[in-house]
Amino acid sequence: MCRFTSSEKEDWKKLSDFLNIALPKGRLGEKVYKMFEKAGFECPSVLDDTRKLIFENPEKKLRYFWVKPSDVSIYVERGAAAIGIAGKDILLEYEPDVYELLDLNIGKCDMCVAAKKGFFDENRKTLRVATKFSNCAKRYYSAKGRDIDIIHLNGSIEIAPILGLSDVIVDIVETGTTLKENNLEVIEKIFPVSARLIANKSSFKFKTDMIENIAGHLEVKND
Ligand code: PRP
Repeated sequence: MCRFTSSEKEDWKKLSDFLNIALPKGRLGEKVYKMFEKAGFECPSVLDDTRKLIFENPEKKLRYFWVKPSDVSIYVERGAAAIGIAGKDILLEYEPDVYELLDLNIGKCDMCVAAKKGFFDENRKTLRVATKFSNCAKRYYSAKGRDIDIIHLNGSIEIAPILGLSDVIVDIVETGTTLKENNLEVIEKIFPVSARLIANKSSFKFKTDMIENIAGHLEVKND
């Protein structure tokens, strides 16, 4: 038989009482948290300048935590977070088994193909594509029937065509500054991207009211 101490029981109760919310660290994260705050789901310590990653509002039973944007959907899919905010780029790349509840209409950008200025795809040889979004790139070129060689990188993708590592890149473009400052240009837009509220499927079943309440308030603030 499995025995728990009373403090373990307390910890477990607290864990399951709280609604865990995964926020994407970085440029989108602060905007997203402010939307939650405006909608009445505040937890002021989230914005403290510390290295802490987990923050709680005991009155509202909310627990926020910062994770890498590309990891949000993993926390949510596996139930470590009941809800989270992930870009459509990440959702299309990893296709996690989660509910997509709301388009937050922030973090807008485009998934694009870009290359050095003047690049022309002659279609004669395999196209070398550098990207963080290998699945999105494969799907896109497979639909076009174009033969490609994927070079999977984890960041600073723009360097690849400059150094001759790839012919093109598939990456998100927001302001276009990174492309411009590296003498690259957009060749094709693949799909638009924005931040989405996602939910774990079983958390949604057991905490429907709480999650719908948050989604509803975020939607109102979003109009
Ligand atoms: C993203 C993306 C581009 C840049 C586009 O990189 O991969 O490099 O932003 O933004 P812009 O159009 O506004 O210039 P990120 O900042 O996430 O860093 P990374 O290169 O390490 O992935």
